[in-house]
Amino acid sequence: MSRVLVLNAKALLGTWPLGTTRVNGARMPQLPQLENAWLFAENGRITAIGQHATEAPPEPTPETRIVHAEGRFVLPGFCDSHTHTVFAATREGEWEDRLRGLTYQQIAARGGGIMSSAHALRAASEEDLFQQALTRIQELMRMGTVALEIKTGYGLNTEAELKMLRVIHRLRRTLPLEIKATLLAAHAVPTEYKEDRAAYMRMILHELLPRAVEEGLADFLDVFCETGYFTVKDMEDLLSAAARYGLKGKVHVNQFTSLGGVASAVRHHALSVDHLEIMTEQDLRALRGTDTIPTLLPGCSFFLGIPYAPARRLLEADHAVALASDFNPGSAPSGNMVHTMALACTQMKMLPTEALTAATQNGAAAMDLGKQLGSLTVGKHASFIITRPLPSPAAIPYFFGSDVIDTVFIHGDIVRSGSAIA
Ligand code: NIG
Ligand code: FE
Repeated sequence: MSRVLVLNAKALLGTWPLGTTRVNGARMPQLPQLENAWLFAENGRITAIGQHATEAPPEPTPETRIVHAEGRFVLPGFCDSHTHTVFAATREGEWEDRLRGLTYQQIAARGGGIMSSAHALRAASEEDLFQQALTRIQELMRMGTVALEIKTGYGLNTEAELKMLRVIHRLRRTLPLEIKATLLAAHAVPTEYKEDRAAYMRMILHELLPRAVEEGLADFLDVFCETGYFTVKDMEDLLSAAARYGLKGKVHVNQFTSLGGVASAVRHHALSVDHLEIMTEQDLRALRGTDTIPTLLPGCSFFLGIPYAPARRLLEADHAVALASDFNPGSAPSGNMVHTMALACTQMKMLPTEALTAATQNGAAAMDLGKQLGSLTVGKHASFIITRPLPSPAAIPYFFGSDVIDTVFIHGDIVRSGSAIA
């Protein structure tokens, strides 16, 4: 039986009450914390937490791993609910072209962008894709990520999309973190279907989606609903088909233009609407009062130089806003969730407490993992981060670019060992 006992933490952060699966905007500024506290985990679960002043921690047995966390914060691990972590090649050349003045859309129009990733991925072996992603995710775990959603969308034909799904499943079996797989075949219309988008849609609806479901490879469905990519009607057809198979939607909407995709996604009970850089009053109204989680990706705005999503408006409307990295080779080549939080604060005016909840509990909710992860609550997975000594919780996103993470546990096992362990 594995046991971990963290002692003398400056504070446990995100100690949301039993039963918390998501946190709405109005409650997000008040990050609950236990000061001068301990945390006990057995067999990968948090079994008790308490404050030294009022309750003694359980007696350690010889095999209990003791962690001395003086001066440090303990927080739930990051739940990154939107990534494209499986890819075959980086795209720095396109980035340099953008630095010289081309836009993301101009690069896509000349055959670059998502299509260039698809060419590279189709040519790559399953083993190569797996090894590359493994290395990337090992770095993400060291940066505190304990749950990760990974999308397909660089295969763009049945064979290559299924190859991506199999790679994601092998990663899930190999690595200790939680991984969810999202079928994003409707990420771009591949060159061979350029003149016949409807035929590509039929291929997804009648061939790929049924295969992915039959083989038990997809948890969610995604669509890039955007000018020049897929229409609102395409998205509706895909979300309806997915619903018939019991798959929820997590969709790319309003990244560059507002097409009415938000209202439509909400009508189809999408679990999350992601990006939202360009939001009209109508889009904001459509979302209000719904359970759909707005997932914001400030790393993409930073890297592409596009507007940031209206985080304050969404928080004021009481949405359970989530933050994710969007890790991908084109628009956000970083899966660093501390940096994502720093951008959310500096660029979107989220408070550090709001950003912490958006990157943990609400990210978990956006993957349907809100019951198991996202807070330091008894019964949840012992997947948490111990910081280096810091003055306050706000210092986590404040020291942007610094490595504030010291030690990371996933399911009660150490995946990064820092000075708190020595
Ligand atoms: O979330 N917008 C669509 N998909 C990705 C970018 C994919 C790529 O450029 O490879 C995004 O930004
Ligand atoms: Fe994305």
